[in-house]
Amino acid sequence: MDEVKQQNSIIAVCGKGGVGKTSVSALLTKVLSEDGNHKVLAIDADPAVGLSLALGISVTKTVDDLRNALIEKAQEGFQEDRREMIARIDYELFDALEERRNLAFLAIGRPEKDGCFCRINSLLKDIINDIADNFDYVVIDGEAGIEQVNRRVMERVTHLLLVSDTSVKGCNVAESIEKVARRSIAFEKVGLLLNRVKREEEVEKVRSRYPLSVIGWMPEDSIIYEFDREGRSLMEMPKCDALSSIRKTLDWLER
Ligand SMILES: Nc1ncnc2c1ncn2[C@@H]1O[C@H](COP(=O)(O)OP(=O)(O)O)[C@@H](O)[C@H]1O
Ligand SMILES: [Mg+2]
Repeated sequence: MDEVKQQNSIIAVCGKGGVGKTSVSALLTKVLSEDGNHKVLAIDADPAVGLSLALGISVTKTVDDLRNALIEKAQEGFQEDRREMIARIDYELFDALEERRNLAFLAIGRPEKDGCFCRINSLLKDIINDIADNFDYVVIDGEAGIEQVNRRVMERVTHLLLVSDTSVKGCNVAESIEKVARRSIAFEKVGLLLNRVKREEEVEKVRSRYPLSVIGWMPEDSIIYEFDREGRSLMEMPKCDALSSIRKTLDWLER
């Protein structure tokens, strides 16, 4: 039997620290959810939980809070029927989901307990996968690389969106993330979005130096910077060039 094609788009936003992953994730979430026709799930996979602020959502519980509570119970010798446990985690994860009309938000948090808790990790991942099935788009703000997304959040990424500024450092990181991803992860599309571009020729330079597919670029934008400085939600960002650049990348999401 043919494998059923996955319907929804799962976008992992990855790149070097500080290049604009959280800003891009928030703006992408904004444009995907604003017409109200699509259900969008934004996942903050960065332990620093910056995406919630950028979306104007407050986090009450993270997946790792839940994970740590489960580990504690297991260590205390608490026995629970697997079915019961799945039902309870399912309930608690839905409880951790913050919902605003057609937009939902889930924070992964920060793992505190060391050691291998493979069973719990894979259980949580399975449930996040089930939750993701209810959404048309899932935007994952990754800590830096795709390995972490793959290990802690989800294995079924359809779009790998690399973000970088036009610096050699940033682009080298994007290039190595792509290489690792190609070796270890199945995805449908990969593209590089250049951020904080000051002159268009910077984009051409990156295009000529790197074998990466540049799908668009976002200018240096004082509104993004000011919003971040003031801790304001990018969901309220007025019309501007940066937002138009994000809209242009939507074609890339078509499958
Ligand atoms: N296009 C842009 N113009 C101006 N400032 C930007 C732009 N993109 C990101 N920034 C600023 O750069 C900093 C890092 O961005 P952020 O999205 O948090 O990066 P990351 O999530 O990759 O660490 C923030 O202060 C943010 O406001
Ligand atoms: Mg970030």
